[in-house]
Amino acid sequence: MIMNRKEQLNEVTDWWKTAVFYQIYPRSFMDSNNDGIGDLAGIISRLDYLNDGTAGSLGIDAIWFSPFFTSPDYDYGYDIADYCAIDPRYGTLEDFDKLLEAAHTRNIKVMLDLVVNHTSHLHSWFQESRSSRDSQKRDWYIWRDGRAFGKKPPNNWRNNFFGSAWSWDKKTEQYYLHSFLKEQPDLNWSNPEVREAIAGVIRFWLERGVDGFRLDVAHIYCKDKKFRNNPPFFVREKIKDGPRFGDRTFMANIMKLLALPELQIRKYNQHQPETHEVLRQFRLVFDAYPARTSVGEIIAEDPQTIASYYGTNNDELHMNFYFELLNCQWKAAAFKRCLERWERALPAGAWPAYTFSNHDVVRAISRYTSSGNEDSRAKLLALLLLTLKGTPFIYYGEEIAMKEAKLPKVSLKDPIGVKWYPLYRGRDGCRTPMQWDNSLHAGFSGAAPWLPVNPDTEKCNAAAQEKDSHSQLNFFKRLIWLRKDLPALLEGKFTSINEGVPDSCFCYLRETDQQKLIICLNFSSHRQEINLTRANGYSGMLISTNPGRESGSITFPLTLEPDEGCLVEFSSVK
Ligand code: NOJ
Repeated sequence: MIMNRKEQLNEVTDWWKTAVFYQIYPRSFMDSNNDGIGDLAGIISRLDYLNDGTAGSLGIDAIWFSPFFTSPDYDYGYDIADYCAIDPRYGTLEDFDKLLEAAHTRNIKVMLDLVVNHTSHLHSWFQESRSSRDSQKRDWYIWRDGRAFGKKPPNNWRNNFFGSAWSWDKKTEQYYLHSFLKEQPDLNWSNPEVREAIAGVIRFWLERGVDGFRLDVAHIYCKDKKFRNNPPFFVREKIKDGPRFGDRTFMANIMKLLALPELQIRKYNQHQPETHEVLRQFRLVFDAYPARTSVGEIIAEDPQTIASYYGTNNDELHMNFYFELLNCQWKAAAFKRCLERWERALPAGAWPAYTFSNHDVVRAISRYTSSGNEDSRAKLLALLLLTLKGTPFIYYGEEIAMKEAKLPKVSLKDPIGVKWYPLYRGRDGCRTPMQWDNSLHAGFSGAAPWLPVNPDTEKCNAAAQEKDSHSQLNFFKRLIWLRKDLPALLEGKFTSINEGVPDSCFCYLRETDQQKLIICLNFSSHRQEINLTRANGYSGMLISTNPGRESGSITFPLTLEPDEGCLVEFSSVK
């Protein structure tokens, strides 16, 4: 059997560096039993769409599953009541084993969501912890006396959604800490018993054969030992070389203003040095099994802080997302600056992970496009994501350019929706059912889904796009399958190019000793000329987002259409 370049590389390198990941939000992917909620059997039935081994399928290599463990769903699965059981609405452990086997048969790896900063308040550990002050598990969570004779919480910490991070427990007359909802009490990571219990959870899934974990909010596990008050926002020190105000989206700024009373510098309840110790311990657990991986959801504005979670000796997380990339405006300079900062901050040997969309943010296509440029911009984003140096994560539906759904208030489910922030509709808009076809409920379910289907399904669905050779889906497929055979994309160096590139374009080189690729992206709504005078040879255009562009030989200057992106192979570039 002849191996493609990716298979050859996987023989010698870590599979997760060359993989394309796909995030599934299980509640919304595919419902097999018509209860309106997606499930594991539904996912199995759609695995061939993701990768059946041929270029007719999407071709992804790994799936990150948002949680499907037992949960009362105050935060839709991110409040776990039993780490080692599948919530009955999604299936059983047996179904999980079937899913794992079905995925592995197709060479798809499986990554689970490790949500262990907090549990559900219904987890037996918390139930026991709150039962009395003398409970054996009292110290598994963070309990403190209040100030002012119990009338005020122990300190000024706010949770990450809205309000105080402390809730009063009437029975035992103490406050407990929750960095999110009061139904999500924080585990006490200073307690060695907690660390051992979670290591046991990790081993449970590794033994079953899962290939890795995404670590939910890993930067907030450990808290200041003295529980000092956080300083208010206005005394915030200016972060040196920090992101410019202009990089933030307009809406994000409005949100910040509206949430002003909530803002404080989270000096004492995140990024504590002890967390690195926990992650080094996790890494030892992962490394006891062959070829496992991890990716951190680490939130910080400055790239150095995020980069510190790779560990001083690459002994913490295998990969980390860089979320500042999601805040870039639609400007070549914004993306370029952001990526260069991140590249500079990465320690030697550290491997990045990239994404533009997930279950917490407005879908990228809706952040970046307006009517008329959706198609070209969605393709340009796909080209950027899949040609950067790092592991790309596609969010379900992104491959068909699914948009953020504008849902009526009555349909909203997310606890942080309209309830607290007047202009913010929460995260439901990016979690609507996958749009498989134009049948009832978009082919997702035979029953009314838990969130309404996006009304644009008639125009945007996978079945229709399969048939259209110029669709977003077919662009993704071509690019993903092409990538598997391009060593420079899989393992090459990244260098941005300035000379001959107008300000409104972002061009970069990906290269190995054998191959040089140039990616040219036009972020403007006008034609732009790229004049790479140093290029003294070429083999030609490999793929363009512009359906009218012919493949084959090209010469410079190269004129890019508005929002066009190209992947060009050079036989030599000085
Ligand atoms: C981050 C997750 O991505 C988000 O969905 C969740 O609400 C919080 N962590 C709490 O677990």
